[in-house]
Amino acid sequence: MANDVVDHGRRRFLTATTAVVGGAGALCAAIPFVKSWEPSARAKNAGAPVLADISKVESGQRLTIAWRGQPVWLINRTPALLATLPQVDSRLKDPKSENVDQQPAYAQNPTRSIKPEWLVVIGICTHLGCSPDFVPDIKPEPFDPEWKGGFFCPCHKSRYDIAGRVFQGVPAPANLVVPPYKFIDDKHIMIGVNPEGAA
Ligand code: FES
Repeated sequence: MANDVVDHGRRRFLTATTAVVGGAGALCAAIPFVKSWEPSARAKNAGAPVLADISKVESGQRLTIAWRGQPVWLINRTPALLATLPQVDSRLKDPKSENVDQQPAYAQNPTRSIKPEWLVVIGICTHLGCSPDFVPDIKPEPFDPEWKGGFFCPCHKSRYDIAGRVFQGVPAPANLVVPPYKFIDDKHIMIGVNPEGAA
């Protein structure tokens, strides 16, 4: 089990939980059996898949979990945020996500996701590796008077939209990375594995 953080921009912090594969939610009686399925700490560090419980992540909120020692953001985008995506295309370096290194093929689409509302990205700036701030409100910001919601990296002022697509005129060269992931059901996302049948 690991503690993960749900937040609502800079305003609200809650605690949620996720679990590594096979580790959580087990009844006491089942623990000895389940234990045998838990990846070792070494396996987790090496990149074992991680299961995220998204059932408590409300619209507009973000859940952060750790995978391969990196923060992975799972963001429940509002309809208003999704509506901003085509509005910023002309201001982006790679609006169509044509750099295939930055996402799996199943996330090379206008929302960069499997389900439109759920964005799953690694929260590491593609410039020099800082973790950008989540700035989800659609309102003028000091760093962008036409801000439509997204991510701002305070290290060298790179900006990304709410699909993790990088803006023109900033030092970051590429969109945020979408890791492999799949939906287990409506409440759980597995990070680190592709959907069945996907490359
Ligand atoms: S590390 Fe993010 S802008 Fe440089």
